[in-house]
Amino acid sequence: MKCKVFITSDLKIGISAKEMEEILPASMFGVVSINSDEQMLNEHALLDASEKYDAIVTTISDKVTSKHLSKKRIKLISNIAVGFDNIDLETAKSEKIAVTNTPDSLNTTTAEMAVTLLLNALRQVKFHQHYHQNGNCTHWRPFFGLGSELRGKEVGIVGLGRIGREIAKILHFGFNCKINYLLNEKVHQLEFPTNPLSQIEFFTSQKLIILAAPLNEKTVNLINHEKISMMPIDVILVNIGRGELVDQQALTKNLDKFSAIATDVTTPDPLPASHPLMKNEKVFITPHIGSATKEARKAMALLALKNVRGHFDPNYQFSPHYVF
Ligand code: GLV
Repeated sequence: MKCKVFITSDLKIGISAKEMEEILPASMFGVVSINSDEQMLNEHALLDASEKYDAIVTTISDKVTSKHLSKKRIKLISNIAVGFDNIDLETAKSEKIAVTNTPDSLNTTTAEMAVTLLLNALRQVKFHQHYHQNGNCTHWRPFFGLGSELRGKEVGIVGLGRIGREIAKILHFGFNCKINYLLNEKVHQLEFPTNPLSQIEFFTSQKLIILAAPLNEKTVNLINHEKISMMPIDVILVNIGRGELVDQQALTKNLDKFSAIATDVTTPDPLPASHPLMKNEKVFITPHIGSATKEARKAMALLALKNVRGHFDPNYQFSPHYVF
């Protein structure tokens, strides 16, 4: 019997029918995909899929809860993302449903986005764009709207995992930055020196902080009132991980502390256009586009499909990226 696969997003925009057929041949897989992902998948479609399909290829917008996993037909959730905080892993484990993700395929792209955000914050790009758009730029002034250079600065990275290490490399080799990280982190060595700091040393000294950690029970609200109160004045905070790494209320109450905040992720994610943080000139927000390049998204989607094939086809020469 064919294995039935439901895809919750429109992959045909980036993946040809031939590529799809090569990975999930019609002789083995019955693939059904939604035809347009301009609207969010409705709640019922995911529930229905968990009852009728063997695998669902999800995105981080699909909140996969016990409702979708308990006593259902589904055997695999293949997430097109490195993160998997949108999936209830406890229930998946207890129901023996496998979960896969797409690590590595997005490291370079996401690291480049982190550096883009950092440079945007350092040079106040949002402020300058609005200032210009609003017709305020009448002449060139030598000491107006000045930012700071990145070259040679210290950068504190929270989360020196696959993406964090890629950020560190760009900052080290491209900008001669000194990289600091939190002492209690398990870190794979890089080919250049990096400097571990205790939490107190880190948060009292770092003026450029990049969050690149996964979201879990240890990292939720990592940046809270206490940490913000330790930070030096005019700190820059970049978040490329998940919105929930930051206590957004504490951040909003303490905006004076920051010279700029540049974040690709928020709570909720994406943030409604009417949210007060959207209007603040020193808060630069992008709508979770860290992995949004043609290269990364294609690699992620192909990997998610290969994860499905590898899980169901013992003859396929590929080990799926299981998250547990
Ligand atoms: C994106 O946020 C991802 O987890 O891949």
